[in-house]
Amino acid sequence: MALAIRVHEQPWTAERAALRDEALLGFAASPKSISPKFFYDSRGSQLFEQICRQPEYYLTRTEETILRLAAGDIAKIAGPDLSLVEFGSGASLKVRLLLEALRPARYLGVDISREFLAASTHRLAADYRWLDVHALCADFSQPLELPAEALGKRPLAFFPGSSIGNFDPEQARAFLRNLHAALPPGSGLLIGVDLVKDRQVLERAYNDKAGVTAQFNLNLLERIRHELDSDIDPGRFQHRAFYNEAESRIEMHLVSPHAQQVRIEDRLFDFAAGETLHTENSYKYTPAGFRQLAAEGGFAAVAMWRDPWQFFSVHFLRRE
Ligand code: AVJ
Repeated sequence: MALAIRVHEQPWTAERAALRDEALLGFAASPKSISPKFFYDSRGSQLFEQICRQPEYYLTRTEETILRLAAGDIAKIAGPDLSLVEFGSGASLKVRLLLEALRPARYLGVDISREFLAASTHRLAADYRWLDVHALCADFSQPLELPAEALGKRPLAFFPGSSIGNFDPEQARAFLRNLHAALPPGSGLLIGVDLVKDRQVLERAYNDKAGVTAQFNLNLLERIRHELDSDIDPGRFQHRAFYNEAESRIEMHLVSPHAQQVRIEDRLFDFAAGETLHTENSYKYTPAGFRQLAAEGGFAAVAMWRDPWQFFSVHFLRRE
């Protein structure tokens, strides 16, 4: 008699369908690449939170210090009766630095990672009982449709963490234009932007000693193996991150040290020895360079704050 086999089907979500489509395209391209937005499944989101606590990763700590010190000024510029709209809200920790000073009427968290978004907005609603909390699961590299009841009359967009650095300048302009279209004239945009600096400082931040960034990078392959029909083995790849000065960006790659073949569904992909899968760009700006980019997206500079080492900047911009 045949053994009874129980087949467990995992639900085919839109997120997975996007991962599948983009993985098949990206692995067939040369050079091979995949979008960093796929880092953020729940494991990846956890690893990212851990990256933010690594001593070498100055970005988070520095931005938090800037926000803490500038919160009063930001509140004065932003004015009353705000709806705070946070993009890439993740664990929604940074926004806590602003809530007491800004006292917004509403908060809308927008993130691609559904479970993470749900958990963090629930915690926020529990901790700030006076705040009307909304959540929107969305890929904000696409045109935005923000729910009107969460936007109110005076939205203030908040895009912390230098997440805009994941877009190349062309995509960053497109994101700003999408945001421009989604916000009424006069709306504020508070945005964290990592600055051009010494190569060593930059490269250390993406090669932490504890190896958390390496795990974060390799988790993308873990995700492909678990969510798609693939035999890819993360153990056969290595993390690499370096500063590409000509392009003003950190590049992250997964290197195949040996020649190997990888299968996704019925497609086979060859990696030559030393070939890489390009997983992320993290662009670094000068203050003037960023203001120029913002202007091209329809946002005018109002104010900027930096730390004493000038590692990181927070810009207040106004939608024209
Ligand atoms: C979330 C895009 C700002 O580029 O520093 C951290 C992601 N990648 N370590 C960054 C990231 C590797 C991060 N951003």
